[in-house]
Amino acid sequence: MSETLAVDAVAREAARRRTFAIIAHPDAGKTTLTEKLLLKGGAIQLAGAVRAKGNARRTRSDWMKIEQDRGISVATSVMTFERAGVVFNLLDTPGHEDFSEDTYRTLTAVDAAVMVLDAAKGIESQTRKLFEVCRLRDIPIVTFVNKMDREARDPFELIDEIEKTLALDAAPVAWPVGRASEFWGTYDILAKRLMPVDASEDEGIPVSGYDDPKIAELVGEARATALAEEVLLAEAGLKPFDLQAFREGTLTPVFFGSALRDFGVGHLLEGLARFAPPPGAREADPRDVEPEEPRLTGFVFKVQANMDPNHRDRVAFVRLCSGRLTKGMRLRQVRTGKQVPVNAPLFFFAKERQVAEEAWPGDVVGIANHGTLRIGDTLTEGEEVNFKGVPSFAPEILRHVRLEDPMLAKKLRTALDQLAEEGVVQIFRPLDGSPPVVGVVGQLQLDVLQSRLKVEYGVPAGFDATRWQVLRWISGDRAQIERWAATNRGDTAEDHDGEYVALFSSDWRRKRAEEDFPELKFHAVREQH
Ligand code: G4P
Repeated sequence: MSETLAVDAVAREAARRRTFAIIAHPDAGKTTLTEKLLLKGGAIQLAGAVRAKGNARRTRSDWMKIEQDRGISVATSVMTFERAGVVFNLLDTPGHEDFSEDTYRTLTAVDAAVMVLDAAKGIESQTRKLFEVCRLRDIPIVTFVNKMDREARDPFELIDEIEKTLALDAAPVAWPVGRASEFWGTYDILAKRLMPVDASEDEGIPVSGYDDPKIAELVGEARATALAEEVLLAEAGLKPFDLQAFREGTLTPVFFGSALRDFGVGHLLEGLARFAPPPGAREADPRDVEPEEPRLTGFVFKVQANMDPNHRDRVAFVRLCSGRLTKGMRLRQVRTGKQVPVNAPLFFFAKERQVAEEAWPGDVVGIANHGTLRIGDTLTEGEEVNFKGVPSFAPEILRHVRLEDPMLAKKLRTALDQLAEEGVVQIFRPLDGSPPVVGVVGQLQLDVLQSRLKVEYGVPAGFDATRWQVLRWISGDRAQIERWAATNRGDTAEDHDGEYVALFSSDWRRKRAEEDFPELKFHAVREQH
């Protein structure tokens, strides 16, 4: 392909990609919505597999069993489907609170997010947390108010809650017609059409406006009157949809529907296709990367061990940011300068047996490797650029690993190193040579670690409390950091990449250290490079 042709092709393919994730509090309906989105995209075989807890993919090892037993999803995955010429990459995020770290990283790889709210509950704790992560990168958010077929809160109240608790403007683009058992469907405020719940496709019935007399004939006098009053009020008092504000992450369009009844899902997908941004420029060092550049770039946001415990292979999930990936390419791992052959990239097409030959900006591919590729790694065709922003979060639980058999110490070290590379756990080695400390965000992550150590590495182990509660990465002038380390050897450790962290027995001590060492910064989040 000539360079100009390549630029055209890359630009064209990038422009039709929408790479997004769904954020929701558990039970709001994320799984149901995912299934319905996949069905709309023709990925019928997979819909159902999203929920299926007993399928082969998930029964291969014990740690996957934890997932089954607790009915939660440990692994994130990628689902690609196409509708009306638009390619959607849906990056699944585990819903359980304990796995928020994985979720956070996945959110660095998307260009937009769908926020699902339970119409009876509104913004819940996990919704808010995940939203805050999206805000770090100003990710545009589309809101889907789900479960409108049931008793729901007043739409004005829900919109007000979004605006107040998230400090985000909210613009309804649909309005519910009737409520709960009287729910008839929605009125599309932007396209002026009625969308009945029982229509198989969300094509809608065009009307001249919310006051069109035709509406009463269709939905009944009472619902039509209520609709006219409410939309009048909404148009007068609420923010109108503004594409630029949405793309800048300051305004969310609000859709209403019912994932269970497959209502409003088509409208949502249409909204994503029309409004959500295609891949854009990505911040990198020393220069930003534009998606239509012909040379391939991408970064690893997730690493997963092969589900087969007999093999040590891992799959690195790479989000492509520019160029075109084909089989057999050799890519440069910028951190080490190593060449990484990409002989058999995994393309995540939801349609069965659809084997892709190439991937474009916005796509995610899986690259099998033996542990060379790490979270945060940038891959290029040779250029020295590094993407910013795959974060590590300060663990909230710090433990010593207790070996049942001391002869396995060396094996444990290898296992922990590998699991740290995968992002399953963070590992810190105190400077005074005392035993390493593992850090996790939630208890469940410890269960997974224990199970995987035993099943995959044959290292039975337990965990003991440490004297530390709080961990922070240290930055500042090198000499000052060294001075800190020298005076606090017992409470300073190196992370997996040799960066210094400070360990504190309480938050009070952390505050004291910040006062005593004003020239140093103590960070709860570390961006990997
Ligand atoms: P999650 O992934 O966000 O945790 O939620 P999930 O889709 O599993 O949905 C949680 C529950 O809410 C499920 O019921 C699901 O059927 C229900 N649900 C999802 N969307 C709607 C909707 O639009 N309307 C109504 N009425 N219910 C909805 P469950 O009884 O907990 O599970 P299940 O037995 O149905 O699988």
